[in-house]
Amino acid sequence: MPLTQPETRTPFVTLFDDTYDQPDCRGYYRMLRSLGYSNHAHAVSVFRAVLDRLMEVRGIAAPDILDFASSYGIVTALMKHEVSATEFLDRYEDGSLDTLTASAMEHQDRSWLERLPARYPGARFTGLDVATNAVRYGKAVGLFDHGFDEDLEQNAPSPALSAQLAEVDLIVECGSVAHLMPTALDRLLGACGECKPWVVTSPVRGNERIEAFDVLRDHGLVIDTLGLQPFPHRRFDSASEQARAMAIAEAAGHDTSGFETTGYFFAQIYLARPASEAQEVFPDLSSVQAGR
Ligand SMILES: C[S@@+](CC[C@H](N)C(=O)[O-])C[C@H]1O[C@@H](n2cnc3c(N)ncnc32)[C@H](O)[C@@H]1O
Repeated sequence: MPLTQPETRTPFVTLFDDTYDQPDCRGYYRMLRSLGYSNHAHAVSVFRAVLDRLMEVRGIAAPDILDFASSYGIVTALMKHEVSATEFLDRYEDGSLDTLTASAMEHQDRSWLERLPARYPGARFTGLDVATNAVRYGKAVGLFDHGFDEDLEQNAPSPALSAQLAEVDLIVECGSVAHLMPTALDRLLGACGECKPWVVTSPVRGNERIEAFDVLRDHGLVIDTLGLQPFPHRRFDSASEQARAMAIAEAAGHDTSGFETTGYFFAQIYLARPASEAQEVFPDLSSVQAGR
């Protein structure tokens, strides 16, 4: 596990945050597609396999999942419903959606999602993000059972969020701007029950944080890559972005040859589990990770 990078860094993945907090999700999902994002396709299928194993190990029939830095809820959608990442993003490419108002888009999304079969009937999904509109949208279309627009990097969780965190079995994070923000993560895990949740995340290589790994360990969790290979996150949008990303990935101890040299950011799965459960084995997940 590469752990050599400096701790104080500016984000090296170009941010497209003008799409993060719109009245509806179209701009964000079209941005993901236009830049060739594929993190969800690879990571969320592993997240589901992790949830399956967690439910077996703990004997849970109806799990509680926290989608951290959830945005409009794409990770929740791909976990909760029978839909692939490709099918999901294809939906928002349809030009006939251009004329819809935000509230008409919301109405259409709600009816579309209602018709998609549920993978985990009875499971509860909570969205947490600083983007108020995105969380509201995810809740309005029925993805989130609970939604919180709170910034745990700045403040302790509200009483309502704390009560929800006490129930959480699994925390997922995909594509966050800064892998498991350490202060937020410490507050999250501090508010969770005595039996800590499993935490599964897919940071861009070079964006992993020593401090976040330390926080996970401080809460008694053991970190594992499950033997999974790095996978493409998205295309670089310029030669300078590629050069910067390669330098940072290499400084963090990654061999970029055959990975970032191919023109893509690469990401890696990390799973953190309580030490008492860390020996529970998984079936071979490499085919699961191939993703769609
Ligand atoms: C690249 S988006 C990823 C969204 C989504 N998880 C996905 O996979 O597409 C990064 C998200 O992090 C959120 N974010 C930034 N700072 C945050 C914070 N302190 N706490 C929670 N979310 C934050 C942004 O609002 C944005 O929605």
